[in-house]
Amino acid sequence: MTQSDSPDRFTVAPGGKLAGQFRVPGDKSISHRSIMLGALAEGTTRVSGFLSGADNLATLNAFRAMGVEIDGPDDGEVVIRGVGLHGLRAPAAPLDLGNSGTSMRLLAGLLAAQPFDCTLTGDASLSNRPMKRVTEPLGEMGARIDTSEAGTPPLHIHGGQPLRGIHYAMPVASAQVKSALLLAGLYADGETCVTEPAPTRDHTERMLQGFGYPVRHAGASACLDGGGKLVARDIDVPADISSAAFFMVGASIAPDSDITLEHVGINPTRLGVITILQQMGADITLHNEQSVGGEPVADIRVRSAPLKGIAIPEVQVPLAIDEFPALFIAAACAEGETVLTGARELRVKESDRIQVMADGLQTLGIDAEPTEDGMRIRGGTLGSGSVDSHGDHRIAMAFAMAALRASGPITIRDCANVATSFPGFVDRAAGAGLAISQEGGA
Ligand code: S3P
Repeated sequence: MTQSDSPDRFTVAPGGKLAGQFRVPGDKSISHRSIMLGALAEGTTRVSGFLSGADNLATLNAFRAMGVEIDGPDDGEVVIRGVGLHGLRAPAAPLDLGNSGTSMRLLAGLLAAQPFDCTLTGDASLSNRPMKRVTEPLGEMGARIDTSEAGTPPLHIHGGQPLRGIHYAMPVASAQVKSALLLAGLYADGETCVTEPAPTRDHTERMLQGFGYPVRHAGASACLDGGGKLVARDIDVPADISSAAFFMVGASIAPDSDITLEHVGINPTRLGVITILQQMGADITLHNEQSVGGEPVADIRVRSAPLKGIAIPEVQVPLAIDEFPALFIAAACAEGETVLTGARELRVKESDRIQVMADGLQTLGIDAEPTEDGMRIRGGTLGSGSVDSHGDHRIAMAFAMAALRASGPITIRDCANVATSFPGFVDRAAGAGLAISQEGGA
């Protein structure tokens, strides 16, 4: 089959506006952690608002394969009968984590301390992603984990290794690395401390505390002692700000748009997309702010506004790390130049998001120049064309929103992985006003 007739293709007619009030699916990061901590807790954890995307189902199935009884997901409800920190059983086969880097990196930490061996595998994209960033510090703790020579999956984890706590200064700002080490630290002798070069999402620390496990914060470090226990609790997963981001950009760029996104997680470590869009001139306001189970949430209203190009402050990069595909579309519709630096990490996400976005923007007639650690985009007129998402969910959804300001239809190839984070995206986007249709099973 050639790429041009492959299934799972979006076609989006140009123009239109976004309107309405709705809730996007649950937060992917929090959903992963709810399964992991719920499984390791003592007692029954009830989760609502769970994201039934392929990535989270990979985590859920991994824990089922390790003997944890889990009901659901049923309309976002999941019930996990925790087995305690020492109750997991050896899986009968390798754990296939699909496209999910979060599942693989966090599980590497959690499984490093188990008494059994296991193997973690993934799809073609995940099989190319760097794992040494977790296996090396875990090795310093005493873990034995094999990777390919290139440091990529599959991971072979040798069980039965006693772990000792370490103090680790992360060379890259990564919540996945921090979380992997803290999860291993639950089992380690003594104190595990992770210091980050810039703030990253802190859902693991918050949820551990919610499960009654003390986490200490000192400056840029998060620390815990091994040997405690987790006590089950209920979790209300807010809507994912990373999924909301596509609609924030869409409503900002499409004239006469006015949307309200309900019950979105607004954890300060995830707010980069709002900060950056506001600096570009976006009209975004927060309403009904409240705290739900240790995570702040709000309704987010977005009305269209003229955007201007900016130099994106590097401190915002980890706080918006998943939102750059959408932000690049905002930059393409802004007046003047937007410059991103300090974002080399984008090259090792589900795709090389710098190159893939630059290629797509150029196809649509935008002056976009990829750099080693970012991109320079001059706002202009988006044309018509066919772009390749390279199987990256966020690239596909970002280009779908671009059609709101394009002069002709945009076709996006290889969109099946949109289901990893946003099942029902096409219906949700169409309901809000995007003229989108799909072919195939995306
Ligand atoms: C995630 C952390 C981020 C993010 C990913 C989810 C998490 O990765 O890109 O989508 O849930 O911890 P890094 O921590 O590697 O930047």
